[in-house]
Parts: sequence; C-alpha cells; structure tokens
Amino acid sequence: MNAVPFDSRSDAMFRSWTGEEILARHDARSGAWMFVCVHSTRLGPAGGGTRMRSYGTPAAALTEAMDLAEGMTRKMAAADLPVGGGKSVIAVPRVPRGAERERLLTRYVALVEALGGTYITGPDMNTNGDDLEFMRRHSEHVFGSSAGIQDGRSIADATALGTFQGIRTCVEWADRTDSLDGCTVVVQGVGEVGGRLTGMLVEAGADVVVSDVDEARIAPLVARHGVRTVAPDRVLDEPCDVFAPCAMGRVIGAEDVGRLRARIVAGAANTQLRGTGTADALRAAGILYGPDYIVNSGGAMHAFGVEMLGWNSAEVLERIRGIDHTLRRVFTSAEQEDVSTEEAAGRIVAERLGETA
Ligand code: PHE
Repeated sequence: MNAVPFDSRSDAMFRSWTGEEILARHDARSGAWMFVCVHSTRLGPAGGGTRMRSYGTPAAALTEAMDLAEGMTRKMAAADLPVGGGKSVIAVPRVPRGAERERLLTRYVALVEALGGTYITGPDMNTNGDDLEFMRRHSEHVFGSSAGIQDGRSIADATALGTFQGIRTCVEWADRTDSLDGCTVVVQGVGEVGGRLTGMLVEAGADVVVSDVDEARIAPLVARHGVRTVAPDRVLDEPCDVFAPCAMGRVIGAEDVGRLRARIVAGAANTQLRGTGTADALRAAGILYGPDYIVNSGGAMHAFGVEMLGWNSAEVLERIRGIDHTLRRVFTSAEQEDVSTEEAAGRIVAERLGETA
C-alpha cells in the first residue's frame, strides 16, 4: 500500500491528544465532514461550541476540532464550571444557508444526540442562535438557542462582555488606569462576538481598528461607529495598545512577536497562540497576554449557567465579572513565579483538574 501523505500538524496532534472520544460523519451529498471531539469529561459533560467553516482538508478540520476541544477543557476548569471540554466542527466546502443548512444541521445534531449527553453544544464560529434553536428540536443537549437568552443577553453578548472586561483588566494591570479612553484596540474578526466587542470598546472611548476577511462585516461597523480598518494581512503590524484576536485560532507564533506593535494581547478567539515558545516570547517582549480561555469564558458561563445550572441574570453577571479576579490571580502568580501568563493559567487549570502541575 502506498504511504498516504499526512500533514505534520495532524500527526503531532494525534500523538499528543489526551482526549477521550471522537465521532465522525461524512455527508457525501455536500462533501461535508462532521467531527465531534470529546476531550475531557473529568469535571462534567464535555461542553463546546459547534463551528462551521471550510478547511483545506478534512484532516485540518479534525485537527482544529481536537485542538479546540482541549482548549475547552481548560476554559471550563479555569471558569470553575462543572463541565468538561469538547468541540465539534462541520467542515463544509461553503457555508450553506436555508434548506441545505438545515439538512446538514439535522445530520450533525444526530451525532450530538447519539452521544447521549456526554457532549453538550452551543454556538461557535458561523453558527448562531437560530441554528441552535433548530438543533434543539432534535436534541436536548443543545444550549444557546433563544431559550437561553436572559435579559436580552445571548451567548455572543456574554462572550463580548467578558472579553471587554478582560481587556479592561489587562489595561489596568499594564497601565494602572481603568479608562479605555484613547486606548487603541485592533479587533481581528468582527463576527458575532468581535462586532459586539467593537461597539462596547467604542462606547468606552477606545480608538478601534477593525479587520475581517469578510468585507461585508466591516462596512456596517464603519458606518455605525466610524472605526478605522486594517487589511487582514496587515493586522499584526498595526500599531496599537491592544491586539484582540476575535476570529481564527493560532494567529500568533513566536516568529510574529517581533512584528507585533501591541503591548497587550487579549481577545475572544480560542487558542490564539501557535507553538510552544510563543507565550514566553510575548513575555520576553514585554507584551501582556491575557490567556484566551479566561478572557473569552463569558459565553460558556452564560450558556451553562443559565440553561444547565439555573443561574439568574445577577449570578451570570457576577461570574463574568469574576474574569477580572481570575486574570489578576494569573498575572500575580506569573510575576511571582517568573513564568508566562499562559503557564500561570495552566497551573490553575491543572489544579482544578486534579493533576499535579
Ligand atoms: N463557542 C464559545 C466558546 O468556545 C461559547 C460556547 C462555549 C458556547 C461552550 C457553548 C458552549 O467559548
């Protein structure tokens, strides 16, 4: 048999993945692949969003799902939620709409249902409340439909709110000021979360620069808030105080750190750093990194808080506000122990998971 070429990142992911279970389905009609990755049920049913996008290869989709699932385990542990970590992707040639979208979601949600509650899902990149609402008809293991809107707040609103607060904590820590007035923030990706975050930052007096691979998302924000824009391939070079990745993961590698013109990295995207030395490189460059899974945990707190744990609005807000405290704890221990903020956050996670760091 001929050796099948296999990209090295997927290979490394299979070697290093510590997860529990993966379910796959191929939809021959559209060419879509669906992967549900259950990374850990150590703290509860594995929770994670359903991402829909196109990938170069099915292996790339699976690799991203495995990677993101692992990140969710960290997120839930750091947020002190009784939830484990998982993630799923629907890898499509093109993001479908209408009846085709519903057909795919129906096939996909059957996988979630087949796991019988081991995996519980919500929205993620390119899926929204309407999709979740639709899936909820076929499975009770779906969170984040409009049933979960509390006081007008959706998961995307909660994620944006938590991220906004996380940015403010980082600015306070770095600059000893609680004002965002005149602070320049580059928002990379202005979808459901990045778009909302942009509005909050503008309202707080920040000078916001937005970027998105989808031009259609930019124009309304420029019209509404008068924000500046930067081309997607120039986003890392844009001078700013805060670089806020809010779309794709693995956007900053160690080799990019010298290019960054930011003093703070904090945003809503999952798994922002690429490669093992990047957190240390940021630290060495004097760039404060707010660990992604802490900064962006507001959505998970809201989704599972409201729909699984029965929290009221005040309780959810209290937990989201707690992101500030968790970040300060991370920054303090990073300073004291002379490690990166990523490492310091990882120690909190290991403690919660009952692992010895
Ligand atoms: N997809 C978002 C995240 O990764 C929010 C979310 C988390 C939604 C968990 C549902 C479940 O954090």
